[in-house]
Amino acid sequence: MSGKTNKTVADSLETDELLLPHMPFLLRDIWALGCSLQPILDSIAALNLSPGNTAVLDLGCGKGAVSVRIASEFGFNVTGIDLMQPFLEDARKKAGEYHVSHLCEFIHKDIIEYVSAEHAFDLVVLASLGGVFGTLRDTVSRLRSQVKAGGYMIYDDGYLKQADSLNRKGYRHFRDHDTAIKELTFYGDRLVKEVNTSALSEEINAEYLTVIRHRGKELADQHPELEKNIRAYIQLQEEECDIINNRIEGALWLLRKTEH
Ligand SMILES: C[S@@+](CC[C@H](N)C(=O)[O-])C[C@H]1O[C@@H](n2cnc3c(N)ncnc32)[C@H](O)[C@@H]1O
Repeated sequence: MSGKTNKTVADSLETDELLLPHMPFLLRDIWALGCSLQPILDSIAALNLSPGNTAVLDLGCGKGAVSVRIASEFGFNVTGIDLMQPFLEDARKKAGEYHVSHLCEFIHKDIIEYVSAEHAFDLVVLASLGGVFGTLRDTVSRLRSQVKAGGYMIYDDGYLKQADSLNRKGYRHFRDHDTAIKELTFYGDRLVKEVNTSALSEEINAEYLTVIRHRGKELADQHPELEKNIRAYIQLQEEECDIINNRIEGALWLLRKTEH
């Protein structure tokens, strides 16, 4: 990975570039890296799309939890894109365990570069990547360029509980609910469904903290020179979880791209 992409990925995982190579170890006990997996699957189930005929794009697929479960439960073809090679290797392994390797393709690429070209998927998923594409309006503009007319977009993210702003790295794209919906539907697409994921997100965050504290200790024993970075990372995650639990309402949005 180049220095710039290293930084992009480190930012998305809220870590620094020194710890980045150790993220697979710190996160080895978790498959789904922050997404609301079950609500994503439930939302897709309700669409009754036909297997064999449906192509899904999973942007920033991580270890493939969303991709593999979609392939396994619905028989759809899934393309997962990520910049972390070790995560993609885990994703391929999981696809094998779930007997869906023939349905899954995992590509090592920058998603920003990938979406700079148009594609014609039936469904695109962006789960737990926050404002990687910019504002909510920028995000929907990117997502809609990846699906055909009438295709679906799933964005697993959230909005501010209060109509203020969060001037913090990784949080600047968040808006209050009304503004978020206006931005998401700016291009005339239909909001099919919104699921509140706050309770689930609290559970996920609690599990995440338990895991990184435990693995963080092991990592610090093996690499004492990283102890300060590990402590800083865990502290940042604790702060972030606090902000998410108190100031953000978790939301999963399912949008349908307009036919014209
Ligand atoms: C918080 S994880 C979410 C992974 C997955 N969607 C899930 O919920 O399990 C964010 C993922 O996005 C990937 N990522 C971040 N920025 C990226 C970029 N510009 N291009 C490709 N992958 C990126 C990271 O490597 C990481 O695997």
